[in-house]
Amino acid sequence: APRTSRTLGVRCLASAQATKSKIDWDKLGFGLNDVAQTMYVGEWTDGAWSKGELRPYGPLAMMPSAQVLNYGQAAFEGMKAQRSAKGRIVLFRPDRNAARLAAGAARLSMPAVPEDVFVSAVEQTVRANEEFVPPVGKGSLYIRPLLMGSGPILGLGPAPSYTFAVYAAAVGSYFKSGQLTPIDLVVEEHFHRAAPRGMGGTKAAGNYSPVLVTQLAAKGKGYSDVVYLDAKSDTYLEEVSSCNIFAVKGRTIRTPPLAGSILPGVTRASVIELARSRGYEVKEEPIAVTEAMEADEMFTTGTAVVVSPVGSLTYKGERRQYGKPGEPTPVGLEIYTALTRLQTEQDPDPFGWVHPV
Ligand code: COI
Repeated sequence: APRTSRTLGVRCLASAQATKSKIDWDKLGFGLNDVAQTMYVGEWTDGAWSKGELRPYGPLAMMPSAQVLNYGQAAFEGMKAQRSAKGRIVLFRPDRNAARLAAGAARLSMPAVPEDVFVSAVEQTVRANEEFVPPVGKGSLYIRPLLMGSGPILGLGPAPSYTFAVYAAAVGSYFKSGQLTPIDLVVEEHFHRAAPRGMGGTKAAGNYSPVLVTQLAAKGKGYSDVVYLDAKSDTYLEEVSSCNIFAVKGRTIRTPPLAGSILPGVTRASVIELARSRGYEVKEEPIAVTEAMEADEMFTTGTAVVVSPVGSLTYKGERRQYGKPGEPTPVGLEIYTALTRLQTEQDPDPFGWVHPV
């Protein structure tokens, strides 16, 4: 019963071949159905990182008193490996993920994973799981690096030891509706995602469960996700539960500035540069929800979501439709196409972002 053992995450390496032949590349979603069979694990004890190792994907042993299980000392990253038009497997700006995880480690009092250790761990994970990297155009190998305080502690304090793990899964489109099907968003009016001087700018594990209550409620009403407003004035867009947001008016593209409460997305930073290189004026400045309702179009960005056009935004019961229902809006589509063509080496990479494995 492959499904059961997959759910438990303990399928052995010997069955990887069977999995390979069973992957239906045309039916990839965003989940663990096609989880890669090899993971990387490194341990930090006594002030230093161990030489990490590749192991079969499976449980990590931890005491109930593990810091991360009690006090949530954990940060993670999201990355993708893809097959490129040059016939090789490539990553996208892994140095950026390494730097963000190091910043998160500092914020959460964890030891940083040095950039060379981080990038090597990701490369090793990709190489070991090559058969889980989808064919060109069918999806990607989503990579999840995790850093956590895995050692035991009772009183509130940093863990005595840490685990750095990297696992991966073959994935397709993040939203069930499909990659370029516009998503319907609703402005969240009860909860904020992050506060000024809080944790929003850190990819802390703990930032991602408080959004579930709002996200599930929104999904129950037929929306794809929610957009959060700033905690200080309840006026300006912050981000969506799992991605950053952009608004387009004419040739000007705006996105909320990184002032501590917004996740510094690698895709966000790349889209800003890419759009500028294509002649758009890009401003990192606050976007009032009322201005968003008047934008020509909106799109979201993230490693998992890539670039997703927004079909509608609902605020206090008023619904703004962007473009034609069901069709991607033009600037979102242009940026999506330019980014994904660059990432898969169908177009040149003048920025030096593509990283062959
Ligand atoms: C990503 O985009 O890679 C993320 O980590 C977001 C996550 C909620 C899927």
